[in-house]
Amino acid sequence: FGLSIREKSIVCIGFMGAGKTTVGQLLAQRLYRNFVDIDVEIEKEFAMPISQIFRLYGEPTFRAKEKDLIVKYSQQPLNVISVGGGAFLQKEIQDICMTNCIVLFLDISWESWKERVQLLADNRPLLKDRSLEDIKTLFLERQSIYSLNHSAFIVDDFKAQEAADYLAGALKL
Ligand code: S3P
Repeated sequence: FGLSIREKSIVCIGFMGAGKTTVGQLLAQRLYRNFVDIDVEIEKEFAMPISQIFRLYGEPTFRAKEKDLIVKYSQQPLNVISVGGGAFLQKEIQDICMTNCIVLFLDISWESWKERVQLLADNRPLLKDRSLEDIKTLFLERQSIYSLNHSAFIVDDFKAQEAADYLAGALKL
C-alpha cells in the first residue's frame, strides 16, 4: 500500500550550503507541492535558532527532533522536503526516506563549495570555529554517505530551475 512514484515526497539532501532549500522551493513551486524545510520546523518547535538549540540542549536533542520531523513529513505524499546536511548520518532517516521518498542528492564539488563558504551564516554550529581542512574532511565523509543513499542526483553548477525541470521531466509530472 505504498505511495506511487508520482505521489512520493521528494527529499533534498547534500552538504550545508549545497542549495537544498533553493532547489527544494523551486521544485515545490514547479510541481505544485508543499515545501518543508526541516531546519525551519525544528527552529519553530524550539522557538530559537539552530545555533542556540545546539548550545542550550546539545546536538543529540537536535538530532532526535530532526528524526521525528523527517519521519512525519517523509511519510506524507507530495511534499518537497529539505533536510539538514547531517540528517543522513542517522541510518533510520536514510531508511525511511529511501523507502518512502525520492531522494535527490545535490552533489556539489569541494571547489565550488569553498567559494560559497563565506556566504554561509553563523547559524551553522558545525562550521563555526573549524579550519577549512577540518571542514573538508567533514565534507568528504558526508559526500560518501549521500553518494550511497539517493535515488537521483544533480551535479555541480546546476541551476536550481534546471534541476526542477529535470526532475519534473523524469517523473513525467
Ligand atoms: C547540519 C546542517 C544544517 C543544520 C545543522 C546541522 C549538519 O543544515 O541541520 O546545523 O550536520 O550538516 P543545512 O545542511 O541546511 O545547513
